[in-house]
Amino acid sequence: MHSPETTRHETGNGTAAPVVIVGAGHSGVAVAAGLRSRGWEGGVMLIDAENEVPYERPPLSKELLKDGAPDESAVLRKERFYADKGIGRLAGITAESIDRNSRTVLLSDGTGQAYHRLVIATGSRARPLTLPGAGLPGVRCLRTRDDALELKRLLVAGARVAIIGAGYIGLEVAAAAAARGCDVTVLEFQDRVMSRVTSAPVSRYFEQLHGRHGVRFVFGAAVTSIDGGQRAERVTVADGTVFPADVVLAGIGVLPNQELAADAGLECRDGILVDGDGRTSDSAVYASGDVTRFTSPVDGASQRLECIQNAQAQADRVAAHITGQAAAEPEIPWFWTVQHGVRLQTAGVRQPEDEAIVRGEPSGGKFSVVYLRDGRLAAVDTIANLADFRTAKRLIAQGARIDPVLAADPGIPLAEATSSTPNHSDADLAAARS
Ligand code: APR
Repeated sequence: MHSPETTRHETGNGTAAPVVIVGAGHSGVAVAAGLRSRGWEGGVMLIDAENEVPYERPPLSKELLKDGAPDESAVLRKERFYADKGIGRLAGITAESIDRNSRTVLLSDGTGQAYHRLVIATGSRARPLTLPGAGLPGVRCLRTRDDALELKRLLVAGARVAIIGAGYIGLEVAAAAAARGCDVTVLEFQDRVMSRVTSAPVSRYFEQLHGRHGVRFVFGAAVTSIDGGQRAERVTVADGTVFPADVVLAGIGVLPNQELAADAGLECRDGILVDGDGRTSDSAVYASGDVTRFTSPVDGASQRLECIQNAQAQADRVAAHITGQAAAEPEIPWFWTVQHGVRLQTAGVRQPEDEAIVRGEPSGGKFSVVYLRDGRLAAVDTIANLADFRTAKRLIAQGARIDPVLAADPGIPLAEATSSTPNHSDADLAAARS
């Protein structure tokens, strides 16, 4: 058992200070746990603005919203874990600024916390709506547990719910709201659902799935205002159409919480810039999780990933670097969403220019779309197809070349669709790409 008071790490200049982690989401907690599992005996201090035992975020837009589901959301680690591991927690306290010269974080309670190493794991926040009426009661976003509980209270049977944005959040809430008997309309700026993360065949499948559950979609919808007396009553879009709404949910993306770093002069560009070990432009300061931007070890792309896999993988790299150990091999990023009980699992990061090949028949409820970049497997979307998901993760990591004609045949295991020299007629290739 560790105690921050008794097992402080001696820094080079003779002062004792802990590793301070700002943010107790998936990544911050994983850094703290990773330091201990890697044998770090110095102090570890976790600072978080939310006054809660750190909790899981994915259930907030899924299980937690279900009728009859308990309000307690799953915690990342049991409360006693932190004490057992000698991880100090300051909950309900915000890190206001960083003094990099004295290696001190200034806190909202007026005190300063010295650090040996600082890890910024501040995550991201819901992009705010900035249109007239956005501040009316009944207009919500979903990021924290409190957001989810408040939303759940509003999603009563018969409520008219307007959802702005057809991304993961908007669609997961649409599914939960429909299941609770709400009247749901999704207003999406683009021409299909989940256009940021997936291809048209997957978008079409989920649009139809929602349609079968009574969810309506309006595409190309630019919301211009939300109006009402005491609270939200209607949403107006640019062509003048008005949608009555008792509840408005904005699911229009997230912004990285990078201000703490940027104000301290650390390099940021839509995310705190970090290297493969999670180091920022100051060697005593690391960053981890949603808030970071880094170069993909898989394809060299500059990316900011919003997913738990990355939150944990980066945390491991940071903990490894601080303790002077080797990190685990980088894993291919993966993502998932569940809507109306249907799970979409994605491996790799698709680019819009990738060649998309559909495996299987979407109407059958089990299919995949593989994405090829220069003939190599770059990403996959799978619906009810765990075999393809697992195989694709491995093949993407290997940079495997894929034969598009073989890949289009769901009867051929994906692992057998690899090829170094695809050799098919133009007609076969055209059919595979349709
Ligand atoms: N009006 C209508 N639609 C909009 C507007 C707008 N003003 N602004 C953005 N959108 C649409 C985008 O076109 C996109 O389809 O909102 C959608 C937002 O989707 P995402 O960027 O995927 O964001 P979101 O669904 O909010 O999810 C944010 O939370 O659960 C996590 O990891 C998940 O990365 C995801 C994050």
